[in-house]
Amino acid sequence: MGTVEMTKTAAPVESSTETRDALSVVDRRTGKSYELPIQNGTVRAMDLRQIKTGPDDFGLMSYDPAFLNTASCTSRITFIDGEKGILRYRGYPIDVLAEKCTYLEVAYLLLYGELPTEQQYGQWVHDITYHTMIHESLKKLMDAFNYDAHPMGMLISTVAAMSTFYPEARDVHNADGRTKQIHRLIAKMPTIAAFAYKHSMGMPYVYPSNAIDYSANFLTMLFKTPAEDYEPNPTLVRALDVLFILHADHEQNCGTNAMRGIGSAHTDPYSAVAGAASALYGPLHGGANEAVLKMLDRIEKKENIPDFLEGVKKGDERLMGFGHRVYKNYDPRARIIKKYLDDVFAVTGKSPLLEIASELEKRALDDDYFTSRKLYPNVDFYSGLFYEALNLPVSMFPVMFAIGRTSGWIAQWLEMVNDSEQKIARPRQIYTGERERAYVPIDDR
Ligand code: ACO
Repeated sequence: MGTVEMTKTAAPVESSTETRDALSVVDRRTGKSYELPIQNGTVRAMDLRQIKTGPDDFGLMSYDPAFLNTASCTSRITFIDGEKGILRYRGYPIDVLAEKCTYLEVAYLLLYGELPTEQQYGQWVHDITYHTMIHESLKKLMDAFNYDAHPMGMLISTVAAMSTFYPEARDVHNADGRTKQIHRLIAKMPTIAAFAYKHSMGMPYVYPSNAIDYSANFLTMLFKTPAEDYEPNPTLVRALDVLFILHADHEQNCGTNAMRGIGSAHTDPYSAVAGAASALYGPLHGGANEAVLKMLDRIEKKENIPDFLEGVKKGDERLMGFGHRVYKNYDPRARIIKKYLDDVFAVTGKSPLLEIASELEKRALDDDYFTSRKLYPNVDFYSGLFYEALNLPVSMFPVMFAIGRTSGWIAQWLEMVNDSEQKIARPRQIYTGERERAYVPIDDR
């Protein structure tokens, strides 16, 4: 489903006259008819509430576990047409942005709605660059993690801890304060991520440098050691920047929904980003790239692919990196990553897993089981191969995703904070448990 622009609807009227752009509903329980306004292909769930069997009836609700068909907000940020495989940020096709922009330009676009002018871009890059260092106490906090702590757990905890370093962030209605937190979040995520990696390797942290740009700086913090000079390869820097662009936003996915849900309580953005990153951690979401690599490792060689796919069809396995709630076509981001992989492997040397991945994709796309269910490669099918080419352990994969997605999370949060129609997110439930029961003392149970 694509994002749509909505205006507030007028209150629905109970009426028997037919109008265009309305849904006529007859409640067979009462014989009453209702007209529910349709705007942008949507009826308002609250318009159902007037449909009652009597004055004591709460009114009709819609039931939609996992939000399969429910829009929770209006948004002007990201447009997806999952059937056609289209992704646009603020109206710009993702392939154009990936080809022409830097990640920081795209982050600005997501947050402020327009590509920056040269002067705005210069200021923006300066503001991000001069917020990359983290508080020394935050570094000490990271030191306290066990040697084998998962870097995603470290990232989530450290971002959450940032709320205690910047308590003014709790005033989410202060526009200047929000801008400051935005700079800090986008700037410090790579530093925290690189420190988490270094910690897991038992190596000293490498501090950020203001002399190099965002992605080059991140690679340097990851791979430089005090013992050696390190010059990030420009092909890898560009590929990483593109990866961040591709992951920057994806409208109301699980992590972004968490960001908006937590943010709707006016929680500070650090705590909300920590929550969003926790959602991203799951293997059905941002953790899928880790799961893809493990799956490819397990398949081991091309000859084992048919057996593996049989296992998937029997329901014993899941083809990780395939399928998407929204895309029922090739994920355009997977296509772009695949294209960059050739450049990356020319620098790093080819991974034997690429051959398995390509063959797996080919066979799955030739198989009616997958095509009939509209299962195509998603962004995570190939992103793991890129991270592996960088020599990163699989535990760092969701961390890489989180860095790019931070701009999208904050853009969505900013939009929500400024949306007068939003309230604290609070779904309803259908209670299916026991009605009132008499208490039984423990001796009588
Ligand atoms: N492998 C095998 N079968 C699959 C897969 C898969 N990867 N994905 C979906 N199916 C099947 C389901 O079993 C179901 O089959 P059925 O109709 O016979 O019951 C059908 O396709 C529809 O799938 P749903 O699970 O209903 O689709 P849903 O929208 O709930 O799930 C999801 C989407 C979670 C992404 C799913 O496709 C999946 O688990 N994929 C693998 C994990 C993955 O790659 N996640 C990354 C998503 S991209 C991202 O988060 C950045």
